[in-house]
Order: sequence, then C-alpha cells, then structure tokens
Amino acid sequence: MDKFLIKGGNALHGKVTISGAKNSALPCLAATLLTPGTVTLHNVPYVRDLITQRRLLEDLGAETLTPGKNTHKITASEIELFEAPYELVKTMRASVLALGPLLGRFGKAKVSLPGGCAIGTRPIDLHLRAFEELGAKVSLESGDVVATAPKGRLVGAEMEFSTVTVTGTENVMMAAVHAEGTTVLRNAAREPEIEDLAELLNKMGAKVEGAGTSTITIEGVEGLGDAEHSIIPDRIETGTFLVAAAITDGELTIEKCEPKHIKAVIEKLREAGVSIDQTDDATLHVKRSEGGLRANDVTTEPHPRFPTDMQAQYMTLMTQAEGKSVVKETIFENRFMHVAELHRMGADIEIHGNEATVTGPTPLTGAKVLASDLRASASLVIAGLAAKGETMIDRVYHIDRGYEHIVKKVSSIGGNIKRIKNELTMSAEESE
Ligand code: UD1
Repeated sequence: MDKFLIKGGNALHGKVTISGAKNSALPCLAATLLTPGTVTLHNVPYVRDLITQRRLLEDLGAETLTPGKNTHKITASEIELFEAPYELVKTMRASVLALGPLLGRFGKAKVSLPGGCAIGTRPIDLHLRAFEELGAKVSLESGDVVATAPKGRLVGAEMEFSTVTVTGTENVMMAAVHAEGTTVLRNAAREPEIEDLAELLNKMGAKVEGAGTSTITIEGVEGLGDAEHSIIPDRIETGTFLVAAAITDGELTIEKCEPKHIKAVIEKLREAGVSIDQTDDATLHVKRSEGGLRANDVTTEPHPRFPTDMQAQYMTLMTQAEGKSVVKETIFENRFMHVAELHRMGADIEIHGNEATVTGPTPLTGAKVLASDLRASASLVIAGLAAKGETMIDRVYHIDRGYEHIVKKVSSIGGNIKRIKNELTMSAEESE
C-alpha cells in the first residue's frame, strides 16, 4: 500500500485549482444508465472512485470513451447485466447509485448490500423504502438487494424521508425519472450535488423541479436522450485547501471553486480567525487574520449547514487555535477515527459521545499515522504539513479515492509531500 511522507513546516503559498466534485460525478455517471443516448461529462475528477464507477458501467454493458482525462462519453444503449456485485460495492459504497437508474429504466436491479464501513454502519434502508413507495418489490437474497418493478415500470408517489440522505435522494430522483406519473419527495437533501444531478437529468430530457430545496418533484417521462454537462467544483476539496492555508500560516488563491456552495465553511473559518476574500465568482483568497486562530465550536449538519466531510479538517485546524472548541458530529457515528492519529502527533482532543473537545494550541510533531477514511486522510495531510518533522501516512488509498492529484497540487504550493510507492499497487497518481 502506498504511503505519503510529509516534511512539515512549510507555509503554503500560490495558486491551486479545484477539481470537479467526486460526489457529483458519481451520481452523474450512474445517471448515464437512464438513457440509450450518449452522455458527455466534463470536469470529472481523475480519482479512484470515479475509475471504479466507470468500470461498473462497463461491466453492465455501457460503452465508455475518455476523450480527455476529465471527460467521459458514456452510451448505455445495450445493458446486459443489472447488478453491482459485492466486489465493487465493498470498495465503493456509491455503487448503490446504480440501483435507482437500473430499476427506473429496466424495472430490475440487484446490488450487493454495503457492509459496515469505517464511518458508521451507513444503511440504505431509506433508499429501499422509497423504491417500495414507487411500487417496487424489494427483497434481500444472499446479501444482495433485489428490486423489481412488477409491471416493468415504477409508479410516481408522494413520500417523505425520515432522515435527510444525499445518495438516497439521488437514487429516488433517478428511479422516478421514468416512472408513470409524478413523484414528490419531501425532506430531500439540498446539497449542491443534488442540483447538479437534476441539471444533468433535465438536459437528458427529464422533468425534475425543486432540486436544492427540501421538496423535489419529478414528472415521469417516456424516454431520455443525449446530454452534455460539466460537473460542479468540489466544495470539500476547496474547504480542505482553505484549512491547509490557514494551518500552515500560508496564503493561497483558490481558483475554479464555487464559494456559494461552502458558505457555512467560510463563515466558520472566518469566525476562527481565517481571512477569506472572494475576488471573483470562482476565486477565493485565504490567509490567517492578524489576530491569529481562535477556538470556535462547530456542529455538522445537512447542507446548507457545516458539512460532515469537513469535520476532520476543521478539527485539525482547531488544534492550532487558541482555546477550547467543541466539534459535534451529528451525521455519522464513529467519525472520529482521525482523533487517535492526531493524538500521536501531539493534539489535545477529548471525545465524549459525538462531541470532541479540542484544546489548543498544541505543537504538532511528525509521526507515523494511519488513514482510516477519505476525509480523515485529508486531515492527516493537513496535520503533517503543519507539524514539525516527518509524518508518514499509511493506507493513502483512502485519499486517492477522492482527491485529484493531491501530491502534485500540494507540492506546487510549497508543501513537502512525497508518495512512497508500494511496487505491488498501481496508484491513481502513478498513471497521471
Ligand atoms: C453522502 C456523501 C458523503 C457525505 C454524506 C453526508 C456521496 C457519494 N457521499 O453519503 O461524502 O459524508 O452524504 O453529507 O455523496 N441513513 C440511513 N438510512 C439510509 C441512508 C442514510 O439511516 O438509507 C443515514 C446515514 O447512516 C447517516 C445519514 O443518514 O447517518 C446521512 O447519510 P447520507 O446522506 O445517506 O450519506 P451518503 O449519501 O451515504
């Protein structure tokens, strides 16, 4: 398994360009299964999860072309298989996003049930209940979810999620596009990725309204066609670089981002002593404020509030802020795996249930640490950049799942980071 070796202490300076959003590209790739036409997607980040998602589409029978590194042309005219096998689902939970489109267009789908994962149990019961509301028969057979539409087509329905779920909302939107009649989904997720998916679906000929609000209406249509779409910038990558600049006491210009998608993160960071200026529609300029970093509590909540995917990075920043801050995680249980690793680097963090109290500032020193999930890995890179001495991060395949060209990008702004390759594994960056 590859590792990262980071020599900390360099302030990050310069310009960094944000890639397309992984969490938007994943459902958009799945949505190509809804049409026999050709869908061209631009600004797709070159990260492992997207390579896996493309492989899934190919296994199902779709033709894929990559005319540019970040452009995929997908034609799902001939689908031969209607299932996402365990081998794929266990490496990437988002393969459950194949369920909605397969069920919606072909009336049948089989997806292996995702097992426990590092950040909690993460069930898909809400997705399945929603499919049932649309008239599907859902059963569990040898660890696989099997869903069928009795008359070959789902039927529109009104429903409400009891908990806001992002991929659940996306799955329902995709399933309902071909349903007979109208579907109204209440308490829907409002993330920008949902709006991006709706935009793509509408370009394909679907009738989706209200994406970005908590009520989404989908009027079923008979057939969809070709579409061309560019994926939105990755708001979590943007937030990660904002934190990286602040923690290293550097100064960065962050380009090709979408500031309106991370208002809550910008607001929290400003309160914590980070100066962030929006210089144009897609550019942010970030450095520490004169007064330095100060403790500031945060609670993770569904969009438009502070995202759970920024929790680990924000907590790392708080280790360098003056005072005590409480970081409360309300979305996922067991999402404090980075804390044990940050302790090894000198952080003072106490966990009580779903709250972590961070006392700062404590000097961070380099150590050998283990990445446990995607965003926890990002927080360890940030900690390593700020720490004195060398940090070796093991299991960086987690970060390769979602951060495009991380080594290249961090090095280009002055970070001392190197990939130590395991000769037996091919990394995403190896084939850059
Ligand atoms: C998505 C994101 C992930 C992000 C998360 C929350 C993708 C590919 N991933 O994950 O990066 O951290 O949103 O913003 O977009 N739940 C249930 N039953 C269900 C579904 C969800 O109980 O059927 C619960 C989950 O356990 C969790 C909460 O709902 O507590 C929110 O999870 P959800 O929004 O579904 O997360 P994902 O869509 O998996």
